[in-house]
Amino acid sequence: MTSPLRLAILGCGTVGSEVVRLLHEQSADLAARIGAPLEIAGIAVRRLGRDRGDLPVAPELFTTDAVGLVKSDDVDVVIEVVGGIEPARSWLVDALRAGKSVVTANKALLAEDGASLHDAAADGGADLYYEAAVAGAIPLLRPLRESLHGDRINRVTGIVNGTTNFILSAMDATGAGFAEALEEATELGYAEADPTADVEGFDAAAKAAILASLAFHTRVGAADVHREGITEVTAADVASAKAMGCTIKLLCIAARGTDAAGRESVSVRVHPAMIPLSHPLASVGDAYNAVFVEAEAAGPLMFYGRGAGGAATASAVLGDVVAVCRNRLAGVHAPSESAYADLAVRPMGEALTRYHVSLDVADRPGVLAAVAGVFARHDVSIATVRQAPAGTEPAGRGVDAVLVIVTHTAPDAALAATVEDLRGLDAVRSIASVLRVEGGE
Ligand code: NDP
Ligand code: HSE
Repeated sequence: MTSPLRLAILGCGTVGSEVVRLLHEQSADLAARIGAPLEIAGIAVRRLGRDRGDLPVAPELFTTDAVGLVKSDDVDVVIEVVGGIEPARSWLVDALRAGKSVVTANKALLAEDGASLHDAAADGGADLYYEAAVAGAIPLLRPLRESLHGDRINRVTGIVNGTTNFILSAMDATGAGFAEALEEATELGYAEADPTADVEGFDAAAKAAILASLAFHTRVGAADVHREGITEVTAADVASAKAMGCTIKLLCIAARGTDAAGRESVSVRVHPAMIPLSHPLASVGDAYNAVFVEAEAAGPLMFYGRGAGGAATASAVLGDVVAVCRNRLAGVHAPSESAYADLAVRPMGEALTRYHVSLDVADRPGVLAAVAGVFARHDVSIATVRQAPAGTEPAGRGVDAVLVIVTHTAPDAALAATVEDLRGLDAVRSIASVLRVEGGE
């Protein structure tokens, strides 16, 4: 067996500590699979004095000098499990330019400035692997960047945030409101103390950008992704979805299409949407992730598993470590970023979707016709209409009714303009909810 490959581990929190543990527990197997033993050169952390339990590693390996560790000539592979944009970007760019292989779980950095990392990898002739950055343990990025490179991917639809999937699943199961379900997610350790990145869709948007870049051979960044979170989803929305045989999920959707000028382009978006219970993603509950890929020759493919958690994410990190170490020993590196297609990203207004609109209206002659007229004016076709009485409304204005309208597919801008005009109708008392509907048409 050859001399050891030396690893610099940046970060030893939820994911990093499990990486260290698995490296220790599986050292013999990993060495056999790679053809050389792995050795930890150092572990960079923020707080040297932090209690790290019974981690099987010599205390003198810990350092707060991440820069020194990354620059050390004695390091072959840098594993970054710190997170955030800086200083992680500078560390990784330096490592890649120096020809060191990098394995990272940092979706925020890849979505914000993946270009700098890919360029540095190309400059340094180094490997950049990031399987753990999207959907945790699920082998997904390698299939997209290798196995499916002979095919043409048309659409990727995914549940890529476990925290929000837990919250929406709890709302669906118990009828709880968003705040109550978030509280439960926090108590059980799914949601972080500051849940903004998850519930406002930032985490899913970063993952959507990474998925779209790989699926469509195009650089897509977080800023290109239309993003809406789940904070506005109400118990009434969930009940309404149920009444339609649907459930609500926070979806990331990356799709090929044509722009207004007829050029091939992509749209990338993250938002809550109703999906029929028959959709493959509808049964993905709890904090699980799943991604549904539609490829031209392969057809539909479904990837499912744990999208977060220390051990699950460390599994993906170690898979990458084995791959980059094998490459080093063979004297090769993985193909560089594939961004040759360079497709334009369509604005959200041009994305094709369907709307579910719930309106509180006056129950009198001509109201349905007036409402339908607004849809017609924007060239939006109505698929179904349901009306139910909703109790007595203020004196002198007749009896309220609830109108639930589901549209056929139309550009998002036309649907949004329709809803805006509905607000101006005298007979419309309020718009109780507007949700997109995906799948099933
Ligand atoms: P944690 O917050 O648990 O751990 C972060 C680690 O980074 C800690 O060990 C911390 O040190 C160290 N650190 C922070 N700042 C510095 C610094 N300036 N210099 C050196 N070390 C520093 O994060 P996670 O393990 O949860 O996440 C790590 C990465 O993995 C992130 O990019 C995240 O998005 C990604 N990821 C996480 C998943 C998860 O389930 N947690 C799932 C998929 C991806 P100290 O211990 O001293 O505080
Ligand atoms: N906060 C993320 C989630 C962790 O809930 O899915 C994994 O990226």
